[in-house]
Amino acid sequence: MKRRDFVKIGTLGTTALIIDGCNPNETSLKNEILPPPLGIDKIKVISTWNSGIEANKTAIEILKNNGPAIDAIEKGLNVTESDSENTSVGLGGLPDANGNVTLDACIMDHNFNCGSVSYISNIENPISVARKVMEDTPHVMLSGKGAYDFAISKNFKHKNLLTESSRIKWEEWKKENKNVLPAINHENHDTIAMIAIDQLGNLSTGCTTSGWAYKLAGRVGDSPIIGSGVYLDNDVGAACATGMGEAIIKICGSHAIVELMRNGSSPQEACKIAVQRIKNSNKDLKDLQVGFIAMNKNGEIGSYSLYSGFNYAYQDAQESKLIDSKYDLDW
Ligand code: GLY
Repeated sequence: MKRRDFVKIGTLGTTALIIDGCNPNETSLKNEILPPPLGIDKIKVISTWNSGIEANKTAIEILKNNGPAIDAIEKGLNVTESDSENTSVGLGGLPDANGNVTLDACIMDHNFNCGSVSYISNIENPISVARKVMEDTPHVMLSGKGAYDFAISKNFKHKNLLTESSRIKWEEWKKENKNVLPAINHENHDTIAMIAIDQLGNLSTGCTTSGWAYKLAGRVGDSPIIGSGVYLDNDVGAACATGMGEAIIKICGSHAIVELMRNGSSPQEACKIAVQRIKNSNKDLKDLQVGFIAMNKNGEIGSYSLYSGFNYAYQDAQESKLIDSKYDLDW
């Protein structure tokens, strides 16, 4: 625990003895007195789309065991990345126009630490590489071959991420669509983005995606961009995004939501205002689906999407459910 966290929790008026090991006879007072965790009632995870249900289950177990939110985010998102049936994240993700699967991911913790990888290939769990960038380098973002080489140097395994069913879909797209990008929908563009709050009341967030199906080679979306795909200020709250990255980047969507919450908006209001900004900053709204989820420091949550059809998975220590997001327009 960092001193800043201790001081903050200390203002709640809690103190505790430190137990040395498991044997109560070995209990001793140490110089530093740590507060107890705030407790299991505090923990909560939200994730975009219904694939978030399984990811949340892994995340909540970590939080129940008093693990940090950053572990919950990484291990939770790994579940979706490694699910070959999910065609817009990690293994099984739909490829770019040339048939290459390229991935974007970023992660951020309660101390403004953040890490990101963009346009990385052949690595199944980019969110874990992003965490290594955050923890093991002085940088925030690594991209393309550099990100891949870094991952290999950290013992990540080279893997072909293009599954047979995704390859067949890409072949069909090439035959039928003559390089027209598909409309944003659940199958070809549903980034998983997650926010967790742990027993100490600390937030973390992250997101991971294979991006827009059949995108131009080299295209990077909002998901590896701190402030667009995710943002977090532990004194305020966190926000993250799914949908058309190009529109989210233009308004720095997740950062905008955190700033709105700082200025008094609820998570729900803040997500709605960000979506209105996207609506006002794009002339052509056809197929421009975007969705945001947010959680404030008190664990209050909210979401909003431009079109109907967006949902997100909620999990606390007791219950798991899928929530239909409020939205602006019917498809
Ligand atoms: N939101 C994910 C992307 O646009 O790539």
